[in-house]
Amino acid sequence: MASRSFATSPLGSIATAAALATCLAMVLTWGVPASAADSGCETCHSQTKFFAQNKRLYDYYQDWLTSPHREAGISCEQCHGGNAAAVDEQKAHEGVFGISNPNSRVFHRNQPSTCGKCHARLVEHFTHSAHHKALMGDAAAPNCSTCHRAMNRKPYFFDIVDNACRACHVGTSPKNGQAVADIAHDILHRLNVSKGYLGWTTVYYETNGWPGQTKQQLTSLRERYHDILATGHSFDLQQADRASIELLAELKSIFRKAWKEKASN
Ligand code: HEC
Ligand code: HEC
Ligand code: HEC
Ligand code: HEC
Ligand code: HEC
Repeated sequence: MASRSFATSPLGSIATAAALATCLAMVLTWGVPASAADSGCETCHSQTKFFAQNKRLYDYYQDWLTSPHREAGISCEQCHGGNAAAVDEQKAHEGVFGISNPNSRVFHRNQPSTCGKCHARLVEHFTHSAHHKALMGDAAAPNCSTCHRAMNRKPYFFDIVDNACRACHVGTSPKNGQAVADIAHDILHRLNVSKGYLGWTTVYYETNGWPGQTKQQLTSLRERYHDILATGHSFDLQQADRASIELLAELKSIFRKAWKEKASN
């Protein structure tokens, strides 16, 4: 599994700072799961012998190891089911199935509800999309892991748009193919730049003090950014196009102000 990195973004370091700021600002409301030591899944799947014996299995574990899910304390059983307290393979795997088994929680048709346990609002939007409809009809449509990979995924725009969307949206197929991919590319580019501005200005004002209403303004812009990501899962590109243009314009003006102030200091 190829690992992805911020390095593919033209805003590399800015985006990294932004991601950091976003993480720090994020209020986690999820329950805290049992500690890693209690998980038979992790104890067994982390064994380095799999590197030689079952490379694919090893790769999936590595994927999770560096994921935002692991960072947030979300372990295997929360997406795959099974008995995390068991040390015996067979007992642990009760209720765990391969991805092509319709009983698997990560089978393509079951993924939205599995992920939706925690990403409810976003999945609610996804269920209104043409993608969801096609997916439930077993058509070649993307599910969560198509764009986010298994457990890890942060879809940065070059990867997603130039690879994921264009993998299916080519020419005039499935519907306005290429045009859809081009609009999506622009939207994601704006969101990526917005994320950079959010991060930079947050770090700047965190260091130099917040003037006037700037803090409230940035908090509300950050909420709008995540709102566009969530509502974007209905793949109503017109709405996302408009919202991303407005968001970027507002962030740019805050960024310019801070940049000028920095230059004059
Ligand atoms: C004692 C070791 C052990 C434990 C405990 C264990 N696994 Fe596994 N798991 C394996 C091995 C070995 C495989 C590969 C099996 C194969 O290729 O036939 C595997 C395969 C899997 C697969 C792929 C399923 C498939 O059919 O290809 C998933 C998903 C999985 N494990 C999840 C879990 C989860 C979730 C837990 C905890 C609830 C867990 N495992 C606990 C050893 C373990
Ligand atoms: C956030 C949800 C999530 C978490 C947490 C998670 N997985 Fe997965 N996992 C998935 C999804 C979704 C897929 C199917 C991805 C795909 O299509 O490649 C998957 C696929 C797999 C597979 C391949 C299954 C197959 O049938 O080929 C294995 C093995 C696996 N995961 C093991 C683990 C282990 C071990 C852990 C914990 C260390 C874990 N996963 C944690 C969501 C998760
Ligand atoms: C048990 C709760 C839970 C489940 C189930 C779950 N997630 Fe998550 N997810 C989280 C938490 C907590 C985070 C880290 C905080 C955040 O970014 O929202 C996260 C982060 C993410 C991120 C990264 C967001 C970012 O900030 O870059 C993506 C993408 C994601 N999840 C997709 C999925 C997908 C796809 C599935 C289903 C295969 C899934 N999640 C299942 C709780 C969960
Ligand atoms: C066709 C591609 C695609 C599909 C399908 C998809 N996503 Fe996304 N997702 C994206 C893109 C693009 C982003 C924005 C990423 C960015 O800006 O880094 C995103 C962002 C996210 C985020 C981060 C939101 C935030 O506020 O930070 C989460 C969580 C997420 N998706 C979960 C899911 C889940 C769960 C599913 C399945 C119901 C899903 N996605 C299906 C493309 C997709
Ligand atoms: C695995 C294939 C696949 C991938 C990957 C994919 N799509 Fe789609 N997309 C489809 C299918 C199938 C439809 C349904 C077409 C229909 O309703 O006739 C669709 C429909 C759409 C629609 C609705 C078009 C309309 O006019 O109704 C939009 C918008 C869209 N996709 C955007 C995206 C974006 C943006 C990405 C990348 C982030 C993406 N798609 C990735 C297969 C895919």
